Amino acid sequence: MTASHSAAPRPHQALPGKPLAGKASVPGDKSISHRALIFGALAVGETRVSGLLEGEDVLRTAAAMRAMGAEAERLPDGSWRVRGVGVGGFAEPADVLDMGNAGTGARLVMGLVASHAMTAIFTGDASLRRRPMGRVIEPLSLMGARFIGRSGGRLPLAVVGAQQPLPISYTLPVASAQVKSALLLAGLNAPGITSVIEPEPTRDHTENLLRHFGAKVEVHDDERGRVITLAGQPELRPADIDVPGDPSSAAFPLVAALIVPGSEITITGVGMNPLRTGLFDTLLDMGADLTFSNRREQGGEPVADITARHSRLKGITVPPERAPSMIDEYPILFVAAACAEGKTIVRGAKELRVKESDRLAAMARALAANGVALEELEDGLIITGNGQAPQGSALVGGASVATELDHRIAMSALVLGLAAKNGVAVDDVGMIDTSFPGFVALIQGLGGNLTPKTA
Ligand code: S3P
Repeated sequence: MTASHSAAPRPHQALPGKPLAGKASVPGDKSISHRALIFGALAVGETRVSGLLEGEDVLRTAAAMRAMGAEAERLPDGSWRVRGVGVGGFAEPADVLDMGNAGTGARLVMGLVASHAMTAIFTGDASLRRRPMGRVIEPLSLMGARFIGRSGGRLPLAVVGAQQPLPISYTLPVASAQVKSALLLAGLNAPGITSVIEPEPTRDHTENLLRHFGAKVEVHDDERGRVITLAGQPELRPADIDVPGDPSSAAFPLVAALIVPGSEITITGVGMNPLRTGLFDTLLDMGADLTFSNRREQGGEPVADITARHSRLKGITVPPERAPSMIDEYPILFVAAACAEGKTIVRGAKELRVKESDRLAAMARALAANGVALEELEDGLIITGNGQAPQGSALVGGASVATELDHRIAMSALVLGLAAKNGVAVDDVGMIDTSFPGFVALIQGLGGNLTPKTA
């Protein structure tokens, strides 16, 4: 598999043009897609996955599952068939596991390896090799795994899985669904009860899928927060999964419609798990005209069709406790804030500094270069919006944004360009394929003026 972000950069630009209009759907949820492949690989027998996100991040997880002995293949109808090896049945990978750009894939698969008597070596692209792995190394070491990594626990690193993994009880020091999931996946192959306590609830797709595949998992709230307990060494049965559309991807066209005058679009089949929908709550607080219709269930998750119409947004203070439910959506929220009337204050979002890029610094640079007044804080941004004149945003734009191997910085900058007088350019769109293959075509299909940029 060749990562397109290692190919020649493909600069693009977005310019203001006609209103966005129409209906579209976005690719499958990235978090659920990684987990669908992993749980399929852990079950004995055959799991069918429909709507899988075929982005590079998820394809890396599929490759890792194959390298560890499972079968994972795309069928002619576009669905995926996974044949699992059973809990405890993974084989040692014969080569380095290159997880590309994917923090989720890397940390979850490290959890699997940690409780198997095997050694696996992980690496990734320049972005992933910068990201901290200490947050999984520490608890997985308590379960008996050993790690040899670069300074700061960075990739490439070798995981020597425990011969006899110990179940642990662990309180998450940072709100992280990846760390929670790595521990629960490791706990599957440990005897006894593994428990994870999260002071702030994070996305619960792992818990939902554990149940879906027949594990014994219980969740309750007490004075410490949310407590998840898992009984180890279950036999997981195959269970089909229909992956809903990714709310984190839907966020980009929806915000584009909110800030481009005259727009009205609908994105169908968007996942509405309440631990993922903080951005929609925030946009509603800012006065966004968003409507949710056709609410239903898909693959055990709530979904809805979401319609966004151009809105005169106002700046607000975003509740910091909302951070885990909108952690991936801050870059695009900052774009909405740049087009709102007045100040938007974001605090409690320090985790953004260790995503695919330092998203606070990257978005501060991108917005400032395009004429947005802001202040960068250690844990957030204060953005003074340019407001919406009747003919559109008063945003100047005109600058090119360095995307730093970060798909969400690239998409946010391009959405900003649709509402800025002189547009906005990005140095590359290749890495958008990690999470949202077809993003450029989708925006073009809705009428957005987004094109390759020639020198
Ligand atoms: C994810 C958890 C979040 C999120 C990431 C996906 C997951 O990361 O940012 O895009 O699927 O568990 P953290 O666990 O680092 O908060």
